[in-house]
Amino acid sequence: MADNPGLLTNLPAQVSSFIGREAELAAVRALVSGSRLVTLTGAGGAGKTRLGLQAAGGLADGSGDGVWFADLAPLADPDLVAVTVADVLGVRQEPGRPVTDTVVAAVGGRSLLVLLDNCEHVIGACAELADALLRNCPNLALLATSREPLGIGGEYVYRVPSMGVPADGDDAETVRASEAVRLLADRAAAQGVHLAQDAEAAAVAGRICRRLDGIPLAIELAAARLRGMPPGELEARLDERFALLTGGSRAGLARQQTLRAMVDWSWELLNPAEQAVLARLSVFAGGFGLAAAEAVAVGPEVPAAEVLGLLGALVDKSLVQFDRTGTGPGRYRLLETVRQYAAGRLGALGPAAISHARLTHRDYYLALTEAAAPHLIGHEQADWLDRLDAELGNLRAAIAFSQAQADPAPGLRLAASLRGYWRARGHAAEGAGALRALLDAPGAQGTTLPRAQALAAAARLLQQTGDYAIAEGYCQEALAIARADGDDYLIADLLRIRAVILLRQGQPGAALPVIESGLGVAHHLGEPYLAARLLSARAFAADVEGDHAGAARDAAESARLFRQAGDRLGVGQMLGSLGYYELSAGDLDAARRHLAESHDIARPLNDRYSIVHTTFNLGLAEYLGGSLDAAEALFAQSLDLARRTGMRAMMAYALIGLALAGRGGTDPGWSARLHGAADQALADLGHVLQPLEARLADLDRQRLRAAMGDQAFDAEYAAGRILDPARAAHQALQELRAVTEPDAEVPGQAATVLTPRELDVLKLVAQGMSNPDIARRLVLSEHTVHRHLANILRKLGLTSRAAAAAWGTRAGLV
Ligand SMILES: Nc1ncnc2c1ncn2[C@@H]1O[C@H](COP(=O)(O)OP(=O)(O)OP(=O)(O)O)[C@@H](O)[C@H]1O
Ligand SMILES: [Mg+2]
Repeated sequence: MADNPGLLTNLPAQVSSFIGREAELAAVRALVSGSRLVTLTGAGGAGKTRLGLQAAGGLADGSGDGVWFADLAPLADPDLVAVTVADVLGVRQEPGRPVTDTVVAAVGGRSLLVLLDNCEHVIGACAELADALLRNCPNLALLATSREPLGIGGEYVYRVPSMGVPADGDDAETVRASEAVRLLADRAAAQGVHLAQDAEAAAVAGRICRRLDGIPLAIELAAARLRGMPPGELEARLDERFALLTGGSRAGLARQQTLRAMVDWSWELLNPAEQAVLARLSVFAGGFGLAAAEAVAVGPEVPAAEVLGLLGALVDKSLVQFDRTGTGPGRYRLLETVRQYAAGRLGALGPAAISHARLTHRDYYLALTEAAAPHLIGHEQADWLDRLDAELGNLRAAIAFSQAQADPAPGLRLAASLRGYWRARGHAAEGAGALRALLDAPGAQGTTLPRAQALAAAARLLQQTGDYAIAEGYCQEALAIARADGDDYLIADLLRIRAVILLRQGQPGAALPVIESGLGVAHHLGEPYLAARLLSARAFAADVEGDHAGAARDAAESARLFRQAGDRLGVGQMLGSLGYYELSAGDLDAARRHLAESHDIARPLNDRYSIVHTTFNLGLAEYLGGSLDAAEALFAQSLDLARRTGMRAMMAYALIGLALAGRGGTDPGWSARLHGAADQALADLGHVLQPLEARLADLDRQRLRAAMGDQAFDAEYAAGRILDPARAAHQALQELRAVTEPDAEVPGQAATVLTPRELDVLKLVAQGMSNPDIARRLVLSEHTVHRHLANILRKLGLTSRAAAAAWGTRAGLV
């Protein structure tokens, strides 16, 4: 997760040292700067991931919008490729909208490098996503690693070569300086084995590396053997094995076979307990901790107490990686090639062995999520959310496994326990999808409490994704079960969900009695957390009905109860709502105070949803207080954040904010266009503005009409309505920045590269439009259009507008 947007990278730290590859690094960096999709291909274990990480690391210099690592190896479901990239970029998924679209819109014109690692098993989805990104995001570049190319236009394939090996007869110095031998020596030294420095030792090391074709993974596995046998013996054993494989001929093996032979040999040298552990570890997706390994690896030949020792032995043999980079206890991980090999070995033991391993894996994660559930709304919320983040691959694998099982209960419990997690991390759609699949299974139709809990969780998530009809049906069914069972806590929970569904559909009158009855149950139970949630719904209803003071009272009480329950996320969000209701009631000082408090809570929790809202509301406070410049800066900030996280409704709100602030009142046309763009976006979403914003927008449109005259206003407003909202947002931000910081001079060597905005301008020039018309169409000032045109001419080495128009036509822009 991109939990620190300020850092602009999430590349994982590496524990072992990186060796050599200077030429390859230079080549990859050059390719990345010249081509927007570079794919590093090669056989398993060739060093694609490591080279990709190193190259990307060198490019993460804090410039642009960062360098991001998306680890695709743990994914089984191709649909999760786009979700994973969205997560990594901090983009929030949106109800009813394909994730790819949201990511594309959020990336927009930002300049990013994204490393898509281990694409091979989800290659189709990677190709589709890459294609969409490259087509629509002009400043984004992709670096992929994959055993096969993505196969789309514009892809530059770079085959990762083996590490350099010394030639037969090279002198000792040259041998020791070769990449492969350096890797062998480094990994041996990491295990406390130091290769001798004499000529004979160098020759042996050189021959071993040549035998292994310079494949990094094979060399690491071989180095791990040097603890138990001297290099000479290792070489002799390799000779024997490879002679066997090649039928005694001296011809080499294909690279895959070389690696396979080395992995086979490493496997055969394991004792049966180590073999059993390694095979079972293959069911983990994306790393695991010691406790999880213990749960999954125990078996008849492996007592729990021995797992730690066996894991250590596997780490020593380089078959398991141990990453201890942070302050935590460290995590284990299997390289993809090794994981696949181990999965093959597990499969060879038969279906019973596989399902046993998967069952213990699922049960471990079921226990973990059930232990986590109460903490997700309690004092240790942030830690538990982070913990679940690290396990997302495993949680998904456990859910997928459960969906194929006859007994639906464990799967339902697992997915329902994650309710707070799905919500907090913007995965409502995924959680709801998983729950719906489980709920629909034929074995899941009984009227059991786990089903009711799962229905409630699904309804809660579907309310968030806007699927009100299904959510309503789930609520009814769950209420019936909860009532029959006398589960008051669940009843109150469901009443609150129903009420919010009604509120979202604009029915505060129908929602209020439902809320009151839920509150009655919550008070009766003495459950502050339930009461807090119901009060937040009542506050919302009161505000819609125009009772702002009542809304503020309920929100304040709700925040107090969330605090008592230890739910910081809840406290932060409620203080934000409280601030908003206070704005509506006209109490600016109290509003500012509470919004600032909300902001301070949301920041460390990385609750982007809250941050976007609060930033916008702080802008409203400034606007209502008469500080237009301060308001504009906050609206622009919230627009930028909303755009980056794909929150479309909030983008529209922020556009309205910018219209209100009106660039210091100098440009009514600009405000009118922004109103048009925002209104169209809201209409497309079917979203009704909240009362305060609706009132302010209305007043502002009247002001503009008075200042400009109806005809001019209508023309500008209509021009705004045809703008794509993401584009309008992008342009508005560029415009505002252009006022204070003009674009840097473009260096001569990049002279043929036009920015997307310049391309837009050029296209319209080529269509024969005048500067004022272009300005209107693109929501720019005339001055800015003029500046763009000057840049275009300079970059293309042209001297006249007519020449630029001709060039644009030739380039196929019109
Ligand atoms: N230049 C290098 N310096 C040090 N170690 C390296 C280097 N290249 C590769 N390795 C190590 O070799 C092993 C295999 O490399 P890596 O995982 O990058 O291969 P891969 O080609 O991505 O494999 P897969 O196809 O399984 O994903 C890893 O342990 C990695 O750290
Ligand atoms: Mg890899």
